[in-house]
Amino acid sequence: MRIDVLTLFPQLFEAPFSFGIFKRAIDRGLVSIKIHNIRDYAHDKHKTVDDYPYGGGPGMVLKPEPIFEAVEAIKADILAKDKVSEPPVILLTPQGRLFSQQMAQELAKQSHLILLCGHYEGVDERVREYLVTDEISIGDYVLTGGELPALVVIDAVVRLLPGVLGSEESPRDDSHVSGLLEYPQYTRPAEYRGWAVPEVLLSGNHAQIAKWRREQVIRRTLERRPDLLKKTNLCLEERQLVERLKREPNLDKESGE
Ligand code: ADE
Repeated sequence: MRIDVLTLFPQLFEAPFSFGIFKRAIDRGLVSIKIHNIRDYAHDKHKTVDDYPYGGGPGMVLKPEPIFEAVEAIKADILAKDKVSEPPVILLTPQGRLFSQQMAQELAKQSHLILLCGHYEGVDERVREYLVTDEISIGDYVLTGGELPALVVIDAVVRLLPGVLGSEESPRDDSHVSGLLEYPQYTRPAEYRGWAVPEVLLSGNHAQIAKWRREQVIRRTLERRPDLLKKTNLCLEERQLVERLKREPNLDKESGE
């Protein structure tokens, strides 16, 4: 996969890709990440990339010309190297579709992605209308720019690419892959400051362990994200467990639902 990022702050992307799983994936050629400075496509000697909004109002708006020209240059480079269909051009913005594991899985099927980091009061609407193919928000809060959201999207997508995670780090059991949250994990020591690891995990009884974990998945999701449980198909036994847990007086309800 090739990911091109357009940003006003290329330095923000240096550290995250220099360590650990990302670095390994890049070094092994599983993903190539190219960071482009929008300012390099500005037309004047001051490298102006923003301007006042027509009609007045606070803040500045990103101009269309540098962004169109940067995306066109990237697309020309991609098409020259690879006979592929047009890559999606994704704008990171609080006005976008809410990012999810399912969207990460869809994006991971693409061979190229172009991510555009918005800034200031926004981007000229013609960029959204005639260049961008998708708009993504990482949550219902406003950040200063699209750089951290772009890193979030890249992280969620790249770790799904074949070979990026070793089998021991498999994304199969991730929270949200099944639509539910993960079960609790423990490692040695079996007792720490008097807090013991649940007996069943030390029993070696794999059927009992699997049953306990499934119950924990359901309990945890019911406590923290009951909205997710409503969207998941549970078997009869699991539905009965949900009903039983709901009647438990000490169920930790954290979500306020
Ligand atoms: N830019 C600023 N806030 C954002 C958010 N929540 N998601 C995506 N891009 C953003």
